[in-house]
Amino acid sequence: MYSEDELLFRNFQQLKSYKLDDEKSSTTTSREQQKTETSVEKCFDRFEELQSSHPRLTQFFRLEHQYYLDAMLRRLPSNYECLDSSRPWCVYWILQAAQLLSFNFEDETLDRVVQFLSKCQAPTGGFGGGPGQFAHLAPTYAAVNSLCIIGTKNAYRAINRPTLVQFLFSVRQPDGSFRLHVDGETDVRGAYCAISCAKLLNLPGLVMKELFTGTGDWIAKCQTYEGGFGGAPELEAHGGYTFCGIAGLALLNEAHKCNLKALLHWTLLRQMSYEGGFQGRTNKLVDGCYSFWVGASIPITQATLSGVDKEMEHTLFDVEALQEYILICCQKQNGGLIDKPGKPQDLYHTCYTLSGVSIAQHSESASCPQVLGDTINELLPTHPLFNIPPKSVAAAISHFNNSNDTDFASTSDSTRRGESEQDS
Ligand code: FPP
Ligand code: ZN
Repeated sequence: MYSEDELLFRNFQQLKSYKLDDEKSSTTTSREQQKTETSVEKCFDRFEELQSSHPRLTQFFRLEHQYYLDAMLRRLPSNYECLDSSRPWCVYWILQAAQLLSFNFEDETLDRVVQFLSKCQAPTGGFGGGPGQFAHLAPTYAAVNSLCIIGTKNAYRAINRPTLVQFLFSVRQPDGSFRLHVDGETDVRGAYCAISCAKLLNLPGLVMKELFTGTGDWIAKCQTYEGGFGGAPELEAHGGYTFCGIAGLALLNEAHKCNLKALLHWTLLRQMSYEGGFQGRTNKLVDGCYSFWVGASIPITQATLSGVDKEMEHTLFDVEALQEYILICCQKQNGGLIDKPGKPQDLYHTCYTLSGVSIAQHSESASCPQVLGDTINELLPTHPLFNIPPKSVAAAISHFNNSNDTDFASTSDSTRRGESEQDS
């Protein structure tokens, strides 16, 4: 039985009119789209046939997802299946997905995770993709997020803030952009990861100013004529980079530097009318991970447009359709979630599909989540700018406010000298 407040599934027969009409002009792109729609249609049809006799189909397969996450975390230290250079990412995807499902790991397991991440910390500051690897901004972001989710004194202590600041200065460019690693490529992921870590670690205002002067202007240049953000100026707008762009700007309180209305328009157009999930760029296919990258960009943009203090009246994307796509098309029977029907489960998609559902459920109202189907489908909220629990954000900022490892002055001085040498 559904209560009056519960969202209902759409009429899948009526929805078929939203499938692509290629107007008798078949292209590679239209054929790929039609193939995807057919695989989604099979899921919707099967769901419609079976939902009354198999109520489990209207639910998240919580136990199976928990089992999958638990198994992957246990295997992590020796698991080379899990991308060897992205092991802090694997940790983060597991911890974030588990917390959304209210699944807690044992303290002992979390202590081992903290020890593992400590081994990934580079002597020169920041975290590498595995023990002994050079520091890189992406695993640094993943490690900092993971340690803040764990949120114990040991976890916070594992982060060496002064050397991390040194690392951030070593990848900062004179125009305010960030390389992902020393001598590496510059893109908007670098800027976002640097800003997110600096905010969570509550770096002092002076250091923030030196680190991020010019960064907001550089990020704003990544916004394209379409309205979304590309990886760097002049590149194609893409959902992943768009999240990094708007979340980075919002964290710097500089969101007004981009065209917010064009951004909102572009992000809303990424929701697929038949599938219900989001695509990452114009004329591409639906993919579960964009539930977060695009799904979170929308409330961030809306909140900035309507003034940060006002609660938004309505989330402008279809929160029901997004949950439908993830519930019906993206769950594996044996645990884990996927990009689209026919793909295997992986940790990245498990984390970002669930994170997107959490955004869809909680972005409109803090007190009345919009949950599709069974009420046990409600996930815990996530902070749209960091993608960790809002309470972990507050706890980390408060912890580092009282932290006494504040010797950053010499770091920024020496880097400033380096920067002006480069400039001249
Ligand atoms: C294209 O994939 C993917 C990209 C161009 C990069 C995506 C960027 C992110 C997901 C953001 C990462 C964020 C952080 C914080 C590091 P594709 O061509 O395989 O997929 P598509 O067809 O859906 O565009
Ligand atoms: Zn994906």
